[in-house]
Amino acid sequence: MIDDIRAAQASALSQVERADSPEAIAALDTRLLGKQGALAGFKKQLGSLATVEEKKAAGQAVNEAMQAVAAAIEARRAALGEAALAERVAAERLDLTEYVTAPSRGHAHLVTQAWERLEDVFVGLGFQVAEGPEVETDWHNFEALNMGEGHPARGEFDTLFVDYTPTDGSEGRALLRTHTSPVQIRAMLDQEPPIYVIAPGRVFRRDTPDATHMPVFHQIEGLVVDRDIGLADLAGTIEAFTHAFFGPGFSSRLRPSYFPFTEPSAEFDIQRPDGSWLELGGCGVVHPNVLRAGGLDPEVWSGFAFGFGIDRMAVMRHAVADIRDMYVNDLRFASQF
Ligand code: FA5
Repeated sequence: MIDDIRAAQASALSQVERADSPEAIAALDTRLLGKQGALAGFKKQLGSLATVEEKKAAGQAVNEAMQAVAAAIEARRAALGEAALAERVAAERLDLTEYVTAPSRGHAHLVTQAWERLEDVFVGLGFQVAEGPEVETDWHNFEALNMGEGHPARGEFDTLFVDYTPTDGSEGRALLRTHTSPVQIRAMLDQEPPIYVIAPGRVFRRDTPDATHMPVFHQIEGLVVDRDIGLADLAGTIEAFTHAFFGPGFSSRLRPSYFPFTEPSAEFDIQRPDGSWLELGGCGVVHPNVLRAGGLDPEVWSGFAFGFGIDRMAVMRHAVADIRDMYVNDLRFASQF
């Protein structure tokens, strides 16, 4: 009987070894170790053995066989359980790592881009870059530009007056400058002619924001003072600038206008390749009173000046529908440029 028990044990162990799922091992557990199993059958037959020694030896063999099979089942169950768990974990795996790309780099604001490009173009035409303060004296912003106290043109340049005493000793009230034209005066007082300067900068007006206006915006001023400078020099410079900045498909025209600080004065329009015209700024031949305010003799020196809106140029260059879009800091808008 012992040989039969050993054979049954070997058969049971090999079945356990071949079991390939937790369900199969559970079925084997019942079948091999249960009351109907082959090993249990040997236990029932022990009584038919002749001697006590034979019964003892066979009983021990059955117990050892059952323990071996039970241990093998446990080991196989554990191994299959681990494999099943590993399989489930793999199947349910979620990639929770963030989708990482190289950090995206920002870029300069549209107005800054236009500002820098304008500087490049004018420096290429032989101009130098000048600067003036954003908080300006009434004298530089109005008086010296031929707009005395009570001049009606002041009405178009309404702004905030600030409680500030200029440190340069000049008299009068201080205000947020309404245009870059006061830099003309500063340039004339600072340097001897010939003067070829541009002055980009921020300006302020009591304008209600709309598609083409902001209360804070940017202008670029140009000033040339030399001998025998006239309207033709102004027109030629503006045409050269238009080609350099906008491209060969664009041209410019001067339309008669009025500014207290230039005589004659003009609006400067550019023509787009589709034929439409757009006003970019004002310009003209520097008024003799302005040259005098700048300490220059109008009998000796003459010049031209221009000033136009950088924001409007940026809007036009990128076909932006509304100037306010550039100032709401919406990434969906800003990242297009
Ligand atoms: C002036 O400011 C004159 N100083 C220009 C000038 C300089 C004339 C030198 C003669 C000689 P004007 O107010 O038209 O002019 O403004 C010039 C340009 O600034 C306008 O053509 C427009 O492009 C821009 N601009 C004016 N107001 C606003 C605003 N509220 N928002 C955005 N751009 C504006």
